Parts: sequence; structure tokens; C-alpha cells
Amino acid sequence: MSTEKTGESTGSTGATRSAGFTGEGGGGGLLSGLGAKGPEISAETFNVVRGDDLEGKVALVTGGGNGIGAGVARRLAAGGARLVLADIDDVAGGKLADELGATYVHCDVSRLEDNEAAVATAVERYGRLDLAFLNAGIASGFGLGEDFDVRRYRLAMGVNLDGVVFGVHAAIPALRAAGGGTIVATASMAGIVGIPSDPVYAANKHAVVGLVRSLGEDLRPRGIRVQALCPSFADTAILGEGKAVLEQLGFPILDVSSVVDTFFRLLDSDGTGECWFVIPGRESEPFTFRRVPGPRT
Ligand SMILES: NC(=O)c1ccc[n+]([C@@H]2O[C@H](COP(=O)([O-])OP(=O)(O)OC[C@H]3O[C@@H](n4cnc5c(N)ncnc54)[C@H](O)[C@@H]3O)[C@@H](O)[C@H]2O)c1
Repeated sequence: MSTEKTGESTGSTGATRSAGFTGEGGGGGLLSGLGAKGPEISAETFNVVRGDDLEGKVALVTGGGNGIGAGVARRLAAGGARLVLADIDDVAGGKLADELGATYVHCDVSRLEDNEAAVATAVERYGRLDLAFLNAGIASGFGLGEDFDVRRYRLAMGVNLDGVVFGVHAAIPALRAAGGGTIVATASMAGIVGIPSDPVYAANKHAVVGLVRSLGEDLRPRGIRVQALCPSFADTAILGEGKAVLEQLGFPILDVSSVVDTFFRLLDSDGTGECWFVIPGRESEPFTFRRVPGPRT
């Protein structure tokens, strides 16, 4: 294993801002992002990442030290992919990287510069990036009444939403340089239905779903597929004490392996901008959003 610490304290890892992303407010309206994004990649020459053709492919997995990220990382490595595992849990991430012959980077996904450094590590160490699995996430664990906590709100939005936005932004140049590639973001069923017990989690996961649905078509001409993984409750540490509550209620909990199975099914699909649900006892597929009414003129 090789371990790299990146930007743990002051953002001293070269917090350079990429062209086109300033982090400042202002700018154009809803349609201002259309057009003028550089040459397109023809669909025939896409660098398509498939589960049965991972030899030599390079993948970044955020939140790769535990749970769903670790499960996907294990299966990617078994297929021959070279991996950069990015996490803030250095012990678990480093241990898994040792096991898989992967590279571990300390990366707080809520920091743009950490995402950029993680992508740079993949390119420097393995020469390219083909797949970005933007999976790191945390529960919020509070409501919007008396228990509202601004610090925890910023943390949850920073990890679950900024972490995906920054991860996509950091990965695009490297994926384009590889002739295209695939981005998978872990959203949740909480990105499709409301969660009264954790509205902030539902809000940032809905935002990830909206991001993926928007980016699918936007990035297709650049040869980049963007898909969302939307599991129901799965048996990982993120459930915390909620696991006992679910068990008491008799609510079925997914094995991580079934989430990993769906990850590989969506990898092998041809779609983009899709949100694949993972629900106990049901075959996973892209969730079909109801068509909204168009304008009447
Ligand atoms: N387990 C579930 O029930 C469930 C359901 C739907 C969606 N999800 C989503 O799946 C993803 C993975 O979660 P999991 O269930 O495997 O939980 P987990 O707690 O086992 O794994 C989450 C990983 O993210 C890492 N992480 C946390 N904050 C980070 C940060 N700032 N930067 C980098 N890494 C960070 C953790 O250290 C951990 O390794 C999350 O996005 C989560 O929201 C989980």
C-alpha cells in the first residue's frame, strides 16, 4: 500500500481553482451552462467501463474504506482494476488498500482540493482515470425544529452534496483525457422519497439525484456517463442505532453485496443520468420518474 495525506489542515495541497469553477456567486441564468464545452467524443470511441473488462482500468472510490465503498472496491480489484481509495478513515482505508494492493489517500470530499488531489494521485500513480465512484456519505441525524444544528447541517451538505459536486468537477478533466469514462454517485432511496426522520439527508440526496439526472445528458457528448446508485437501508455503520429500530420494525435491511451487485449492473448498462434503486426482494433497475406536465400554450 502507499499512503498519501492530502490537505488535512490548511488546504495547502495546491488549492488551485480549475478553470470554470470559481466558487464565487453570480454568473448567468439557468441556461448559461449550455454549449461551448470543448470538443465532443464520438459515441463509438467512448471509453466504456464494463464490469467484465476492468483489467487496466483505474478507479477512484470515495468513502472506500468501509461499507458500500469497500464492497465495490473489493469487487473492482477482483476484476483487475487499479484503485485509489479515498476516505477520512485512514485506518480502515489504509488496511483495505493493503489488502487490495491499492493506493490510499486521505481525502475529505467536502474539500474541492482534496478531490483534485485524489484524482491527481490516480493519474500520477496509474496514468489515467476511468471510473469515479463518488460514494462517501454521512447521516445528518437531526431535524429542522429545536434540534437544528447549523454546524452539522453544513457538515452533512458538505460531505453528501459538495462531495459529489466536487468529485465530479475534479474527475471530468481526467476522464476526458482517458477518452471518457464513468461516474457513479451514491445517492439513496432518500433521494427519491422524503425521510421525515432525517430531512437534511433527504435534501442532499435529492440534490445528488437532481445533479445526476442533469449531468447525464450534459456530459454525454464528453464521453462521460453519470449514474446514481440509490439503495434502501443497507447493513453498514451509517445506520448506527437505526439498525436496531429497523430490525424491531421488521424492515428488511440490504446486504452490502446486493448494493455491489447493482453497482455492477448499472456499470454494464448503457444508460446515463439514471437512478438505480436497490430495494430488498426487488430486481434493481432505473427508477422511472413520472413525466411532469409540459406548458400549455
Ligand atoms: N447504508 C445505507 O443504508 C445507505 C442507504 C442509502 C445510501 N447510502 C449511502 O451510501 C454511501 C456509503 O455509505 P455506507 O452505507 O457504506 O456507510 P459507511 O459509514 O460504512 O461508509 C461511509 C464512508 O464514507 C467515509 N466518509 C465520511 N465522511 C467522509 C468525508 N468527509 N470524506 C471522505 N470520506 C468520508 C467514511 O469514513 C466511510 O468510510 C453514503 O453516501 C450513504 O449516504 C447508504
